[in-house]
Amino acid sequence: MLDVRRIRRHFDFPAAGRVVTNNAASTQPPRELIGLYRELARSYENVHRGQSSASQRTTDAFEASFDTIAAWINAPSRRSIVTYRNTTEAINAVMYSLLTEFRDGDNVVTTLMEHNSDFVPWYALSREILPRLGRRVECRLARFDHASGRLDLDHLADLIDDRTKLVCVTGASNFLGTKPPLDLIRRLSRDSGYAQPSGENGSLLLVDGAQLVPSSPVDVGALDVDYLAFSFHKMLAPFGVGVLYAKEHLLEASLPFLYGGDMIATGRVSPDRVDYNDLPWKYSAGTPNILGTIVSAQALRLTLDLVQGGRPSWFGTERPIPWETVASCMGTVSRHTAAMTELARKRLRDVVGLRVYGPQPGVDRSPLLAFNVDGFDPFWLADGLNEFGVESRAGCHCATLAHRDLGLIPPASCRLSFALYTNADDVERATEAVRCLTSRGRRRTRARADDAGARGQRR
Ligand SMILES: Cc1ncc(COP(=O)(O)O)c(C=O)c1O
Repeated sequence: MLDVRRIRRHFDFPAAGRVVTNNAASTQPPRELIGLYRELARSYENVHRGQSSASQRTTDAFEASFDTIAAWINAPSRRSIVTYRNTTEAINAVMYSLLTEFRDGDNVVTTLMEHNSDFVPWYALSREILPRLGRRVECRLARFDHASGRLDLDHLADLIDDRTKLVCVTGASNFLGTKPPLDLIRRLSRDSGYAQPSGENGSLLLVDGAQLVPSSPVDVGALDVDYLAFSFHKMLAPFGVGVLYAKEHLLEASLPFLYGGDMIATGRVSPDRVDYNDLPWKYSAGTPNILGTIVSAQALRLTLDLVQGGRPSWFGTERPIPWETVASCMGTVSRHTAAMTELARKRLRDVVGLRVYGPQPGVDRSPLLAFNVDGFDPFWLADGLNEFGVESRAGCHCATLAHRDLGLIPPASCRLSFALYTNADDVERATEAVRCLTSRGRRRTRARADDAGARGQRR
């Protein structure tokens, strides 16, 4: 059980009366992390670029952050961790790194339930970039079941063949809430028969973990994924840092996405030859988001303290984190957010004309509910919720393909999403506001219809 009341004391939003139920977009930062930025200013200096004590201290903290991030997803070491600005940039980095490897006639398989971040790069690769280089590469899209939100695994299996270089799939949909079975998808991609340039057999597997990593334990070793991307602004940290995990041999063999300073082996640049730095710094061209990376890694440590309660023992340290600790902590977060999601679903059950998209109750899903109510514009609903102090999101949530596939015109829904600090009161207020808005809206519509009828009779 999470002590949510205690956890909320670390944040500013409850005192402001905000009902924060738009956590799938971004979570709120605990006060400690904002304070940490200020504290880091005392030894503010660049990394790998100075001999001062300040630079050494900042470099040590920065490098240790990669160990923390690796531990969080049970990666073998920091050598598999690359930081970018966000999930989107991390996925683009994979696309640019693999660009030269695609052969004429290859394909990429992704799904209709992806966030645009995991579709548009593959669209651009296959429709715009590679055709200019004279290579034809197809981007294939696996369907999902409209009623259950389940990924159509038979269709996915049909699309994957021995020319599938890469399979890209969300770990948890930010619209439907679906969590595709990654173990099965791993098997399908491994057995594709594609011959990688490394001599390995099988398609690579990229998982968009933007919603998965913030809401459950993710063990990259057990999942055997080749790439995993996620963003810290959905995991309590401030904006600006995302992660690409990749298997070490892939990072060793691939071309970097960005070139320049610090990603080269010290002194080994000449007009005719450039040698790259050791992993993971081969992928950190230019001055990185130093403070953001340190604060993001500390956000993970703070999450452990928030969940475990008692005396803080992880935040502000560089103690190695055992995987079991992360798994247990994120298991607790996952159970709590699942309970909040189910509570919201129950409270919305009697709203006339409401349709929640994605899996039925009881099926493991992302902690969010996207819905529409017959006769109501989702933007009108979200604006109305805001007037009740309830923060939601209306739109396609960048899951444009799925909205269109469901035939939603406009391609939009209203979404409530939950985090470890969500309490039952937030859920009650949010769902009560939906009920209130829709019944008030229906009363007004009826009154207008009655008025029009009365005027018609008078005439
Ligand atoms: C499933 C999914 N993928 C990718 C992204 C993109 O994340 P970012 O905006 O941090 O790049 C999001 C953001 O909402 C998401 O939910």
